[in-house]
Amino acid sequence: MPSYQRAGELPEKRHIQFRRPDGGLYAEELFSTRGFESIYSLLYHERPPTATREVRQWHRSRVEFHENDPLRNRHFLTGKLTLSGDAVDSRTPILGNDDILLSMATAREPMASFYRNVGGDELLFIHRGTGTFETPFGRLAYRPLDYVLMPTGTTWRIHPDEPTDMVVHESVGMVTTPRKYRNEFGQLEEHAPYYERDFRAPVLAPPNTEIGSYEIRVTNRGRNAVYVVENHPCDVIGWDGYCYPYAFNLQDFMPITGKLHQPPTAHATFEAPGAAFCAFVPRLFDYHPLAIPVPYNHSSVDCDEVLYYVSGNFMSRRGVVEGSITLHAAGAPHGPQPGAVEASLGKRETDEIAIMVDTFKPLKRARAATLCEDESYYRSWASSP
Ligand SMILES: [Fe+2]
Repeated sequence: MPSYQRAGELPEKRHIQFRRPDGGLYAEELFSTRGFESIYSLLYHERPPTATREVRQWHRSRVEFHENDPLRNRHFLTGKLTLSGDAVDSRTPILGNDDILLSMATAREPMASFYRNVGGDELLFIHRGTGTFETPFGRLAYRPLDYVLMPTGTTWRIHPDEPTDMVVHESVGMVTTPRKYRNEFGQLEEHAPYYERDFRAPVLAPPNTEIGSYEIRVTNRGRNAVYVVENHPCDVIGWDGYCYPYAFNLQDFMPITGKLHQPPTAHATFEAPGAAFCAFVPRLFDYHPLAIPVPYNHSSVDCDEVLYYVSGNFMSRRGVVEGSITLHAAGAPHGPQPGAVEASLGKRETDEIAIMVDTFKPLKRARAATLCEDESYYRSWASSP
């Protein structure tokens, strides 16, 4: 979990009078989770964030899903998809279930309006591009290989400096660091592959005090609206607490390696209801003299495994390229393709970068997944595929 942060000007106590230079009161906002009983922050706005002038329909098409039927391993070449629109409009769902929705998205232009998902946390993975998230907590610069965690209810928009491609995970709950990494006080323990110091919080910018008409696209588990508010969402003069967006770069992930092959759980990054996230980054291979660097054959009977291939040489996977997504379905056996074990022997390191999300409920395919599927993938383990 993130640790306590504070930025800007704050009153001496929470919930007391805190006045602007003109004598008016700043507007305190409690930004909380799980009602009032989990992590939260307190933000001090120039003017109330509640001043809504209009609520309009936000027409979003519903995601149509197809079962993974026949049940089999699948490969989706997401690079074949053409995405358009801003970082929100361009979202193209690929896989999903009741707990998590995985989409591809792009940012080629600044977002004219803000966006807020109040149905759960969002975990965004930046594959390519640089830019800035504008939030009430401040500005959060992003770069390739960043995970950006947007807590439920965060208002934000993106200003890309370069064309940006990302993977979006929409959860129905909180995305947290794995419990096994945290001590009883919430601090990351010595054995964790990262540390609180690696998390980047937004940098608070001077408040935007203009009054106007600001659009916020709000979504909550299938219900949508466009709010038009009169006070700029980023009119915050100070905030403190434990709940805020933050970024974590995979180059700051220090992989755990072993004398023999480590399971994916050794590479865990985050967890969420019904989902576990891992990252595979450049690392030394196992150092037993007879070690086999590539994974063993297995069937993950309790979860669907989804890998997104970012860069490098994907040694154990035939036919995958940057931007590929493989779905290894619960119960469908998989492992190194023919020849991969022998080819891996004696290799000392890997340069591959990939991210994974395992889901405990079966995933369904959205329409875009069916459009970019490599239909032959499930046969790639056969001696003559
Ligand atoms: Fe697997």
